[in-house]
Amino acid sequence: MSIHDPTRGDLSVTPTTVAAIEFDAETIAGAVRRLADEVVRDLGGEPFILLGVLKGALFFTADLARALPTNVDATIDFIAVSSYGRADRSSGEVRLLKDTSESVEGKNVVIVEDIVDNGLTLQYLQRLIGGRNPASLRTCALLDKPYRRRVDVPVDYIGLTAPDTFIVGYGLDYQEKYRNLPYLARLHDWAFAGEGRE
Ligand code: IMP
Ligand code: MG
Repeated sequence: MSIHDPTRGDLSVTPTTVAAIEFDAETIAGAVRRLADEVVRDLGGEPFILLGVLKGALFFTADLARALPTNVDATIDFIAVSSYGRADRSSGEVRLLKDTSESVEGKNVVIVEDIVDNGLTLQYLQRLIGGRNPASLRTCALLDKPYRRRVDVPVDYIGLTAPDTFIVGYGLDYQEKYRNLPYLARLHDWAFAGEGRE
């Protein structure tokens, strides 16, 4: 059994705080393969950088990179940001924790994000990277909550449309927990102690 065997997500060891699995590992893998095909269709002929946004897009970036055909000229880089605000939503005040390792000037860049919610984090990233004269700038998001958008940001590739609920797993956290889950899940209300979530 490979470590990526989707059947390895054994329901009997699901944390008790998990209310439901919204997208299982197989569904995620299918979305990642489709996104890789779409990126390659647009960029496969030229070199490009997959720029993963830490920490949420950690696994997504790795899986997306491995889903690319082996002859594609792609490099992987990471940027780390954190948003101020409550634990479960960003205020748009974004702090850069780690910049890119390679220069993006003159390069084709694909920002790889875990989820686009109100759009403020992505807007910050697109302005930051876009201001450094890349040859092209695209965005690939695993999850989208289009009905929550506060700013209009272009998202070129979208994996799955998320339900209107806070999602954890496959890199996404609640207070730094649950990133290791192999699926995307919704938590019970009582798991968000004292936050008065909407
Ligand atoms: P935005 O600025 O509201 O678009 O939020 C983007 C960031 O907030 C994402 O990169 C995530 O880190 C976090 N985020 C937004 N919604 C969720 C969610 O449902 N689960 C986990 N993290 C989320
Ligand atoms: Mg987060």
